[in-house]
Amino acid sequence: MSERAVAEGRISWARRRMPVLGATLAELGQRRVFDGLTIGFRLHLEPKTAVLVEGLLAAGARVVAMGNEGTTQFGTAEALAEWGCEVLDRPGDGRDAVGSHLGRIAAAGPDLVLDNGAELIEACVRAGRSPKGATEETTSGAFRLREALTGAVGFPVIVINDSPLKAIVENKHGVGESVVDAIVRATNMSLHKKRVVVFGYGWCGRGIALYARHRGADVVAVEPDPVKALEAAMDGFDVDTPEGAVGSADVVITATGRERVVPYELIDTMPDSVLLANAGHTDAEIDVVRLEREAPGELVSPSLYAHELAGGRTVFLLAKGRIVNLAAAGGIGNPIEAMDLGLTLQARSLAALANSAGDYQPGPQPVPRPINEQTATAMLESMGQTPT
Ligand SMILES: NC(=O)c1ccc[n+]([C@@H]2O[C@H](COP(=O)([O-])OP(=O)(O)OC[C@H]3O[C@@H](n4cnc5c(N)ncnc54)[C@H](O)[C@@H]3O)[C@@H](O)[C@H]2O)c1
Repeated sequence: MSERAVAEGRISWARRRMPVLGATLAELGQRRVFDGLTIGFRLHLEPKTAVLVEGLLAAGARVVAMGNEGTTQFGTAEALAEWGCEVLDRPGDGRDAVGSHLGRIAAAGPDLVLDNGAELIEACVRAGRSPKGATEETTSGAFRLREALTGAVGFPVIVINDSPLKAIVENKHGVGESVVDAIVRATNMSLHKKRVVVFGYGWCGRGIALYARHRGADVVAVEPDPVKALEAAMDGFDVDTPEGAVGSADVVITATGRERVVPYELIDTMPDSVLLANAGHTDAEIDVVRLEREAPGELVSPSLYAHELAGGRTVFLLAKGRIVNLAAAGGIGNPIEAMDLGLTLQARSLAALANSAGDYQPGPQPVPRPINEQTATAMLESMGQTPT
């Protein structure tokens, strides 16, 4: 079966399992909400996000799209191109290509931007473009907007990640379930009585800890925020310093949205055979660059690299430290239902900006409450549950 045929099957399967997004897109399509508008789109290009792009095109948008580094599924990209989406990614693209694609989308003068990491928003700002508004999908992008780009963005950016719905449904349960599942499938390893160290007890870390425990692991949380560290302890997990936690680790998973939280010096203290994986947005949470320099990786199984340290110990790294639920074990990502919710928040937020961007302040802001409530109700109904 060709990559394209596999993508077609997976897109049609995803479409069937995304009733909330489907109903939303049908409504936006009937109203031709994006007629005449160009949407600069940067999100992992895979079957679930393809369903969103399909609906944006049907609602009148011109979509110019790129994915995040290393996660584009080219069968899906081909399908998107056939539907009329302008896809910039090509197999083998590296970091230089990413810069050039960001520049090309900014140069297209998008009316709306859907971003995942805030690099496209930054490219628009640097190119002097001022879209009506933008949405930002992820925690890492929210950090960039509120730190490096603070005060620089003159148009509204709805931060999907700030929605309590996305935090609960996607970051906690979707990421928790799919990251643990990807690690188990990519390694064929059971987690029972394994010591699993989770860096970051935020939304994703809570979910990873929870689902690792479901699989029988003994979980240790590493978390600098004492409030969240207390929450981890109250949830029944051990809490320790990085050095204390990794000393007897079987598996180390990062989920912080920060860079080099696992530096090489820490890797060098880990026991033989430890497995490293990253669930965060970028591939810089684990110091892969230095690890690769000191102990070049050797591919031992799909996505699994062995790095032999001085002294004979070997550490194993999944997917070169890239986002493990998308870059390892077939890269199927978050469960479809979690993305049904998250992508509905995206579609409704883009529609709100298309219709009435003037109602929003410039800069990052949360998803409007009515969109959260409408989406939560629709999701409950899709699960056969009735809100009071
Ligand atoms: N894998 C996926 O599919 C997926 C989906 C959504 C989000 N993400 C990414 O996961 C990452 C985490 O997202 P989140 O929503 O959990 O963010 P969050 O802000 O809720 O949690 C991050 C946590 O990391 C902690 N932290 C910061 N520095 C640390 C350090 N040096 N050591 C240990 N902990 C540290 C913070 O205190 C915080 O509690 C982000 O990069 C986000 O973009 C991945």
